[in-house]
Amino acid sequence: MSSTLPEQSGGTVQDRVQQGRRNAFLFAGAAGLAGLMFGLDTGVIAGALKFLGQDLKANDRALEWIVSSLMLGAAAGSLLAIPLSHHRGRRGAMFYAGLLFLPGTALCSLTSSIPVMILGRVCLGLGVGFGSFSAPLYIAEITEKSRRGKMISMYQLVITAGMLLALLSDSLLSYGGHWRWMLGILAVPTVVFILATMQVPYSPRWLAMRGRRKEAHTVLQQVRGSKQRATEELNRIEENLRKTEGNGFSLLKSSSGFRKTFALGIGLQVFQQFAGINILMYYAPHILEHLGFSTSAAVWCTTLLGLANMVSTFGAILLIDRWGRRPLLLVSTVVASLSLAVFGTLLYLHVGGVFGQIAIVSLLVLFILGYAFGEGPIPWTMCTEIQPLQGRTLAIACSTFANWMTNWLISNVFLSVMGAIHDYGVFWLLAGFNAVFFLIGYFFVPETKDCSLEEIEDRLKAGFPLREIGQPSRLKADTAMVVQERDSLPV
Ligand code: BGC
Repeated sequence: MSSTLPEQSGGTVQDRVQQGRRNAFLFAGAAGLAGLMFGLDTGVIAGALKFLGQDLKANDRALEWIVSSLMLGAAAGSLLAIPLSHHRGRRGAMFYAGLLFLPGTALCSLTSSIPVMILGRVCLGLGVGFGSFSAPLYIAEITEKSRRGKMISMYQLVITAGMLLALLSDSLLSYGGHWRWMLGILAVPTVVFILATMQVPYSPRWLAMRGRRKEAHTVLQQVRGSKQRATEELNRIEENLRKTEGNGFSLLKSSSGFRKTFALGIGLQVFQQFAGINILMYYAPHILEHLGFSTSAAVWCTTLLGLANMVSTFGAILLIDRWGRRPLLLVSTVVASLSLAVFGTLLYLHVGGVFGQIAIVSLLVLFILGYAFGEGPIPWTMCTEIQPLQGRTLAIACSTFANWMTNWLISNVFLSVMGAIHDYGVFWLLAGFNAVFFLIGYFFVPETKDCSLEEIEDRLKAGFPLREIGQPSRLKADTAMVVQERDSLPV
């Protein structure tokens, strides 16, 4: 993927800028394959679980460990990715992620032992963790400011596409119960991913951080299309690097504002997982079979859920900068909470027959549509937007870690909890978590639409409450307008 410098290819300034954009899109697309691997490796287990469970004679507890060990690896990987991406670059961390996917895929698809399967899943998880920290960072550092939000949201869309592809291939391979093929086929995209990471350049910001100014300038020229734009941006990066000396830990001690955004980031990520999405992503076929669906109907319905997830994420990307973050999150939590509450009630009433099955699938689709419209993308977007520059890496790493640990917890105890409080009890509990998520959104989440990161940081430093660090709330704005109008009336 070593493209020529746009200035060497001649053409007008406009042509060169366009060429630079194409290069940036290509490099960001290659990094986006990390998201595809994330979706493939986490999504594939849903369809394979039943068959591998039978072959390996795994009980419920063993199944829970097989599913959740990947998340434990990913939690560790997302923390280890900080020093790795600092020393070896974001590109290096993505390359090592690819290298871990290979033995992980081989162990999982070839073994007949439960501990080796778990080891393979931990290996895959470490790779997912490396990728989920370094790929969005790489994308943010290689793309222009004006396209950054969209490109990062596209990364979330690619994750859902990976999940859908995995579910689709699971469905096709489910007829012969070929679970080894379901897991093993992922070696193909893994090799493509490794080759892609070898072709992309290092991110300019990382090169500048390491004092490799000349190389940083060359990469910037490749992606911005002109020497002058490259020099201007490099100067800005270097100025920024000087400003952010000092670390997140010292900021955590000294700034109560940062402590609040730090806690909000973790809260959003924890409740994203308590919303219950991954119970469906990993266990939907198991749940549906438990409710009387045939194996193939259960696997195909799960694929439908994957499709709903991707479609609704796409809708959220289209609307996030128009409607804003708060409306998306609030609508999403209400839909998710109500659909799960009704779903639990159907289970409690043992509604069966064709009508019951249609209602069950429709409610699950509704839940996923709701989740993917806000609860899915907003925590990731918000976590990069609300954190002050000096504490950004620390806050994002900790909230990502919290996301994976909660994901692990939920997937590790789901079957046991279902045994203890019944299926309907689990879904009522999840409906309650979604209602709490609504309250967190309502009382604490700011509207960051149309606000620059610097404006948000300034308002945070000025001591505004969390809810007000983005746009002022409608109520406050209206009150301010009324006061202004009243004050301007002649006395
Ligand atoms: C979550 C994942 C989840 C995925 C589903 C992401 O935002 O972090 O845990 O599997 O959404 O689309």
